Amino acid sequence: MSEPPKPVRIGLLGRGNVGGAFAELLAERADAVEAATGRRPEISGVLTREDGDFGAILERSDLIVELMGGIDPARDFVLDAMRAGRPVVTANKQLLAQHGDELFAVAREAGVQLRFEAAVAAVIPIVRTIQESFGVTEISKVFGIVNGTTNFILSEMAASGASYEDVLAQAQDLGYAEADPSDDVSGADAAAKMAILARLAFHTPVTLAEVSYEGIEAIQPDDLAYAKELGLSLKLLGVAERREGGISVRVFPCFLYRGHPLAPIEGPFNAVMVEAPAINEVTMSGPGAGGLQTASAVLGDVVSILAGDAPVHETRVELPIVADVTSSFYLYLEVADQPGVLARVATVLGDNEVSVKSVVQRGLGDEARLVMVVHECLESRFATAVEALGRLGDLRAPPRSIHVIEEQF
Ligand SMILES: NC(=O)c1ccc[n+]([C@@H]2O[C@H](COP(=O)([O-])OP(=O)(O)OC[C@H]3O[C@@H](n4cnc5c(N)ncnc54)[C@H](OP(=O)(O)O)[C@@H]3O)[C@@H](O)[C@H]2O)c1
Repeated sequence: MSEPPKPVRIGLLGRGNVGGAFAELLAERADAVEAATGRRPEISGVLTREDGDFGAILERSDLIVELMGGIDPARDFVLDAMRAGRPVVTANKQLLAQHGDELFAVAREAGVQLRFEAAVAAVIPIVRTIQESFGVTEISKVFGIVNGTTNFILSEMAASGASYEDVLAQAQDLGYAEADPSDDVSGADAAAKMAILARLAFHTPVTLAEVSYEGIEAIQPDDLAYAKELGLSLKLLGVAERREGGISVRVFPCFLYRGHPLAPIEGPFNAVMVEAPAINEVTMSGPGAGGLQTASAVLGDVVSILAGDAPVHETRVELPIVADVTSSFYLYLEVADQPGVLARVATVLGDNEVSVKSVVQRGLGDEARLVMVVHECLESRFATAVEALGRLGDLRAPPRSIHVIEEQF
């Protein structure tokens, strides 16, 4: 009589929000995992700051799940585990965004799987979709809302007209923003996720240092109020796209027209779109964080490893980052309410080949607000135009600008 298959022993590094939820979910879904893969999962050891020894856990584990976060010692543990022939599942976006080359090289050399679905947009299966479903598709663009904290803040600012500071405090009270929210609101967290997605989508090495990012700290309630009149809603977008001569990977606040698939995504949710000639476009949305939701993505990776599916994560080409790309913009100007101002502004824009798509003008005493959307132009050209506007004697405050995706669906 043949022996029943041995259980798969899972070494768990970290038992915080996600690690704790993962341990519970694994126990709850053990029967289902066994039915799907033929092997019953069990936790062979747990490492926290207080408890456990990594070497001993590795020794008695078939697979390592890293849910500690941070770079040190997570990086050493993940590398050691793979070198010892253990597949690894991690939710650690910083580790992948900063040390992707090294991690993928070691995974390849050791012939083990490294899975990280939960590192980007938590439970939304964007990593496996890009790696597996679209593994040989020529993806032209992957972009979306990959930070729930900032999406909550922008949605609330638009709905209530409250200031950035007030809504941030509310987000902290509700647990949508951390006590130190700087990684989220500065765009740095989204940049790490976009470095990972760009690497996967374009099969090219992209590191966090190559992703330029801009956050939401400077957004004013005015911007959102005027944008409403222009039919726009504001999101913090991560955008990775092929551009002539290479790729562009960036994070910036961006207005979207009504009807854009990302426009209705409100609150602490994520949504990611993938575009390619062969697929047109695909949009996925859902919770981008949360202990249980993230743990669910981690469990999905464990099941994939046990089922033996190996994703494609090859670096095939070196694509340079293109610094100057085209974009459409929203432009907010506070000007003296005098005859000829609009004409002078239009002349500066025209001289720099920036053309206006729509304008809202409001007089407020001896001042006026000029709010416009300009058509797509080279960003360097737009920056020159904004600089020149700043030198006009008519301006009462420095010009403010925000990206716009002009495409209307
Ligand atoms: N929370 C989310 O919604 C979410 C979403 C997507 C991805 N992630 C990612 O998931 C990972 C875990 O996040 P989390 O929210 O669960 O973090 P967390 O609540 O802070 O938990 C971290 C766990 O790792 C342990 N740990 C940290 N440093 C350690 C060290 N040097 N040695 C041993 N143990 C250590 C901690 O031990 P102690 O218990 O002793 O402190 C704790 O158990 C991170 O990479 C995060 O970016 C989280």
